[in-house]
Amino acid sequence: MRIAVARETDAGEPRVAATAETVKKFKALGADVAVARGAGIASGILDADYEAAGATIGEDVTKDADIVLKVRRPAPNELSQYKKGALVVAIMDPYGNEAALKQMADAGLAAFAMELMPRITRAQSMDVLSSQANLAGYRAVVDAAGEYGRALPMMMTAAGTVPAAKVFIMGVGVAGLQAIATARRMGAVVTATDVRPATKEQVESLGAKFLAVEDEEFKNAQTAGGYAKEMSKEYQAKQAALVAEHIKKQDIVITTALIPGRPAPRLITAAMVASMRPGSVIIDLAVERGGNVEGAKPGNVEVVGGVKIVGHLNVAGRLAASASALYAKNLYTFVETLIDKKEKKLAINWDDEIVKGTALTRDGAIIHPNFMPKTAA
Ligand code: NAI
Repeated sequence: MRIAVARETDAGEPRVAATAETVKKFKALGADVAVARGAGIASGILDADYEAAGATIGEDVTKDADIVLKVRRPAPNELSQYKKGALVVAIMDPYGNEAALKQMADAGLAAFAMELMPRITRAQSMDVLSSQANLAGYRAVVDAAGEYGRALPMMMTAAGTVPAAKVFIMGVGVAGLQAIATARRMGAVVTATDVRPATKEQVESLGAKFLAVEDEEFKNAQTAGGYAKEMSKEYQAKQAALVAEHIKKQDIVITTALIPGRPAPRLITAAMVASMRPGSVIIDLAVERGGNVEGAKPGNVEVVGGVKIVGHLNVAGRLAASASALYAKNLYTFVETLIDKKEKKLAINWDDEIVKGTALTRDGAIIHPNFMPKTAA
């Protein structure tokens, strides 16, 4: 059983799909592990570290691999370097990318999308959305503090008092909760909002204040899977009015609102941005999925009327070493379930719900119900 750790080809991706620790664990399962030369450098992992853990280092490592580990979906020009029938496990970004999924199917690959992992207790340690969102939430506050021209905590000094910064977090999932906790640790006064009623208690337990339109629709805004639903136009209008009043008084706003498989909801309009004081900072963590903030530009820091709108891409990747360590562990925990430890070979139970939930392609076809061609579905 050969496992390859591929090099990321996207220039904006500093993460890597394995660490020396996970290489060691795969070796202990009886696998041969080959790592592409330099694959870990941007995450602070040297080829020598992988070698010391038992991996070989090479160029065309994917060619004869049974399992390829990656951070991002392989680009079309990478697919010819994979063995037919190989497993490819990565963050596949499948929504809206059906053509790319078909290419992986045509290449005969069994592709698994880690971000579709069901949110069940057994799979918590495989949950890449959580591991990466947690770091992104932390980094968003650090980035905001870096862009903000004032201190976050209240400081009483002989030369005068610096007031505490007011930080507003919109969207209280994994990233939002970590952003609240981080901003609180840094001494800010924190408020937060979400459309899921379960978040109210979580916000308050972190010492922040909850703000939301708490009507009938709000009470039913959570899916069985724990995610937000897309809210009605009426709700969005009421939410916007409440937010518009609040936002004027904020120094830093961090938006994290997402709806699975849909564009991110627009929460902050240009008029709201214009109502904020110059020097205020907005961080849009949803910028890659269409953005929560009007005027946010992917990969840029825009200054609009003195307000900085920050649209960094791959925010978890801005903490590449930490992000890779957690991602690699998520991958290992999942891939381990696909291996028969006695026989030391692949033994996939295609009926297992974590396999069914993540498997995109198999035997030349797209097999995931969310992405199957309409006629087949
Ligand atoms: P997400 O990344 O999909 O969305 C972020 C947040 O945006 C969510 O809290 C969502 O309610 C909120 N949102 C959506 N539309 C909004 C709007 N119009 N206004 C304000 N906020 C809006 O969510 P994430 O971080 O993936 O977490 C979703 C849920 O899954 C949470 O309840 C989380 O605690 C839960 N979870 C469960 C796990 C498990 O059981 N294994 C693991 C991780 C998370």
